[in-house]
Amino acid sequence: MAESLQERQAAMEKIAAEIRACEKCQLHKGRTKAVPGDGRVNAEILFVGEGPGFHEDQQGLPFVGASGKYLEQLLELIGLTRKDVFITNIVRCRPPQNRDPERIEIEACEPYLDRQIAIIRPKIIATLGRYSMAKFFPDGKISKIHGVPKKEEGRIYYPLFHPAAVLRNPALREPMEEDFKRMKKLLEELKASEPDNDDDAPPPPPPPEKPQQLSLF
Ligand code: URA
Repeated sequence: MAESLQERQAAMEKIAAEIRACEKCQLHKGRTKAVPGDGRVNAEILFVGEGPGFHEDQQGLPFVGASGKYLEQLLELIGLTRKDVFITNIVRCRPPQNRDPERIEIEACEPYLDRQIAIIRPKIIATLGRYSMAKFFPDGKISKIHGVPKKEEGRIYYPLFHPAAVLRNPALREPMEEDFKRMKKLLEELKASEPDNDDDAPPPPPPPEKPQQLSLF
């Protein structure tokens, strides 16, 4: 639990290497590059999308196409960049013709996500779209529960629309932006309610060796 940042980075890189070599489901056959995930291993917010599209498959990075540009704009709205968060997907290889991932593919990939969550220990897990939402909100309907946090054991699970759905439907832009702003507020409230246990924070300065003798003159 108290591993250093370097140990967490090494553990994350080990998972990424496993994903790049993974053949646990049929999706590996069509991939150019697997997409393990990207960002800070000690991020406070973890985003979980659906699966790589064309550009992600080419580059091996999540959310680098049109949806990714929009996700970056949403992050900017709340004063963050993609370097401040961790972004991954429910499946790590591109489904052919961007079809929906199948249950067997999601299940094969799931242990990677669970291990990444254990390393990152995010305060908020924000799902982007219905496949990642289904992992944490099995009976949820996105139109009803988007932006409604579920708090469990000190962590917030937070369902969001998929950025691609918002790009297709401009009526969702405003609710999506409101959901992002609420997420930022929830994070601040959660942090304010917790004892400060940031294991990457610099240690406090040592106390002075001897009490200073105050001279009267
Ligand atoms: N859509 C996703 O769900 N994930 C990506 O990485 C890119 C687009």
